[in-house]
Amino acid sequence: MAMLSATGLTKTFGALVAVNNVSFEVEQGEILGLIGPNGSGKSTIFNCIAGMYAPSAGSIRFQGDEIAGLTADRVCHKGIGRTFQIPRPFRNLSLLENVALSAYFGQDRSASRSNCWRAAEQALELVGLPSDAHSTTAGLGAAALKKLELARAIATQPRLLLADESLNGLDHHEMEQAADMLQRIRRDMGITIVWVEHIMGVLMRVVDRVVVLDHGEIIFVGGPSAAQTDARVVEVYLGTSEQPAGAA
Ligand SMILES: Nc1ncnc2c1ncn2[C@@H]1O[C@H](COP(=O)(O)OP(=O)(O)O)[C@@H](O)[C@H]1O
Ligand SMILES: [Mg+2]
Repeated sequence: MAMLSATGLTKTFGALVAVNNVSFEVEQGEILGLIGPNGSGKSTIFNCIAGMYAPSAGSIRFQGDEIAGLTADRVCHKGIGRTFQIPRPFRNLSLLENVALSAYFGQDRSASRSNCWRAAEQALELVGLPSDAHSTTAGLGAAALKKLELARAIATQPRLLLADESLNGLDHHEMEQAADMLQRIRRDMGITIVWVEHIMGVLMRVVDRVVVLDHGEIIFVGGPSAAQTDARVVEVYLGTSEQPAGAA
């Protein structure tokens, strides 16, 4: 049985059909890339899974349970962590406090405070940010803020991580580092990952499979190398201002 399966998932905003009858599965242990041009519905799918939006129609099953329409806190407690495309940390708290809050409220058991601090330290160390009590978000650049997002998601101890546009705003070296980090999170923590990106380059090196969206519909599911030679995928990428298939 797949870890997560979306069936007939649809989300409308008024007359706009942002996600149209989308079905896909996430297998336990894989890194699945969810790609497509800006506005193709990637974040909306994440938001439906993670409980930000109730789907307009369709089913989302996670480890056998229907989760469509659950609130975000309940989805998180079931074991789905997510990062946000736009990081919004608590600017008046330390990095450690930011991550400890996720550990405290993101788990469905009465986690002790000391365990939460430890989980926060570990998550910050994993992403390579300072885990002392004093470091703050002041002066953090785009790459560091993405790492903080990851640390906050990991501290909730998810089985499935939804990572949204982790590479946006990063230079090439930082992109490679972020890709390596997601591989490490899967390998060392056993976390299954769905990774949303609008560019294809670095992502293609680490994903097992990709789902390609265009205008809210799936146009391709399969291996990364097959995606890069698929006529519809190439057309969608060449037909926009996005980078073409295979470009970094
Ligand atoms: N809260 C919202 N209200 C109205 N329209 C939205 C909302 N969220 C997303 N959309 C629209 O849905 C479509 C898909 O958006 P989104 O899922 O953010 O795309 P992506 O993440 O692939 O760039 C876009 O046309 C976007 O403008
Ligand atoms: Mg998006």
